[in-house]
Amino acid sequence: MEILDYDIAVLGSGIAGLSAAIHASVESKGKLRIAIVSKLHVMRSHSVAAEGGISGVLYPQHNKDSEKLHAYDTVKGSDYLADQDAVDVLVKNAPQAIRFLNNIGVPWNRTDNDRIAQRPFGGMSVPRTAFAADKTGFFIMRALYDELIGHGNIDVFHEHFATSLVADKGNVHGFVTFDMADRSVKAFKAKSVIIATGGFSRIFGFTTNSYSNTGDGTAMAMRAGAALKDMEFVQFHPTGLVPSGILITEASRGEGGYLRNSKGERFMERYAKSKMELAPRDIVSRAIISEINAGRGLKDPVSGLEYVHLDLRHLPKGRIDERLPMVKELAMKMLNIDPATEMIPIRPVAHFTMGGIHTDINGNVVHGNGSLFKGLWAVGECACVSVHGANRLGSNSLSQCSVWGSITGKEAAAYAQRAAPDPDRFYSIAQDEEAHIADVIDNKGDITPYQIRDELQGIMGRYMYVFRNMKGMARAQQELAGLRKSVARMHVADKGSTYNTNLRDAFETINLVDLAMVVTHCALNRRESRGAHVVIEHPKRDDRHWLKHTIAYLSQSGVSISYLPVKLGEFEPEERKY
Ligand code: FUM
Repeated sequence: MEILDYDIAVLGSGIAGLSAAIHASVESKGKLRIAIVSKLHVMRSHSVAAEGGISGVLYPQHNKDSEKLHAYDTVKGSDYLADQDAVDVLVKNAPQAIRFLNNIGVPWNRTDNDRIAQRPFGGMSVPRTAFAADKTGFFIMRALYDELIGHGNIDVFHEHFATSLVADKGNVHGFVTFDMADRSVKAFKAKSVIIATGGFSRIFGFTTNSYSNTGDGTAMAMRAGAALKDMEFVQFHPTGLVPSGILITEASRGEGGYLRNSKGERFMERYAKSKMELAPRDIVSRAIISEINAGRGLKDPVSGLEYVHLDLRHLPKGRIDERLPMVKELAMKMLNIDPATEMIPIRPVAHFTMGGIHTDINGNVVHGNGSLFKGLWAVGECACVSVHGANRLGSNSLSQCSVWGSITGKEAAAYAQRAAPDPDRFYSIAQDEEAHIADVIDNKGDITPYQIRDELQGIMGRYMYVFRNMKGMARAQQELAGLRKSVARMHVADKGSTYNTNLRDAFETINLVDLAMVVTHCALNRRESRGAHVVIEHPKRDDRHWLKHTIAYLSQSGVSISYLPVKLGEFEPEERKY
């Protein structure tokens, strides 16, 4: 086993991870040695799939925007579960984060007087979402990657799959990986570790997420004893292309698109009269499923999926080509539909996990009692610093990744300059993990990772989608417990060393099953409806009992749950009306 020694090791290479590495490097004036370790080639990270844009108050004097208004929209959108001190950090730092991206070369769409253009997004009071057509994530990633290549102290390890953190007595010292190219085990030893591995919406089959979004860092942190927060809140984006689930950006509604049911009605009038198609995602997704349940949907004859229509036919000539070229490309390539003349079939699709690794306001991983997990930070979708609460507003995630990329990078750099790792224990813990990897590949069993994954996604799709009920969630919990047992019988058929994706898929499957168990357990416990978590038997938000965060730990005996108060501020919880 090779040991690679760094000051900072960043696990994950999307916008959050790359931002963290760059800001750590700048903070240390290029003195710290930094590794970025990714299971993919960096430019295949899921951030490249982000489409619609990034939120931030850029020109308050021109569009009557303010940080306070951005904070209000975010807190209300979160159904009051966001921590208001964290939201404050988000809105105050987002403009600077967007300007940083501007300085490193993101080609924003611009207004006639050369300002960065901003478009309307769901739940936002004014146009506040900066964008580069509908390929914003790709352009941000390209700029960040170009930028980090100029930092001689940052080494990039593409295609190294991490299986476990190296943690000892509440301190984290690194993680163990195997190199996809030849299956050689490499352990990264670091004074500071930043997890930036993204979300885990691949617990669902119908999802906008890449196949790679399996929550590896979240599951690893949980197994190392970290707490997960608010895991019951999974966002269903209203407009997943039918039947593939590919994202059709909310920007298509921001640019003026309508939603229509089988009768051609703009049904959002029934659910959010003032915001219509630009209500927050939880509300629009519920509206679509309610229309379908009321018999006003359509049915795809091949997949059997029911859907409604996204209508862009009335947009001004040229708008689709200028601002939504990828929507056009996707509709044409996947369904042979020209959105200028035909409507697009869509339905709600698993898109974003609001829950994740419990952190403090600086992204430091903390226990439920607030004590620090030393040497460990989490950033981006894998983290729950709690700015999104029970429902994220579209385009707030890229701001979150950029803002906390900068914060965690600086924090990790400061820590690395004063901390000393424990080299002796590191080696023996890493050796144990090397043996574990060998055990997984040698395991004699009768079930493949793909069978387990199919079953998992079936359970989640059946019982944990937009509307949940107590019986269904209990059923999901029971079936997942059985599925978790069958993981012990998982068989890796490919014993080879070169690009053994079968072995990688086995580890990912273990992660998905563990995370799905936690999601289901947390959901079954929360007896109210808030944001993206809707329980038929408990249809109302219940602030008296449930204005609190769920904290979950996983142990051999199962999931244990406790609760933490929400950090309130100037915005008092009130009924959400749009
Ligand atoms: O619809 C979208 O473009 C997605 C944006 C987001 O999730 O922030």
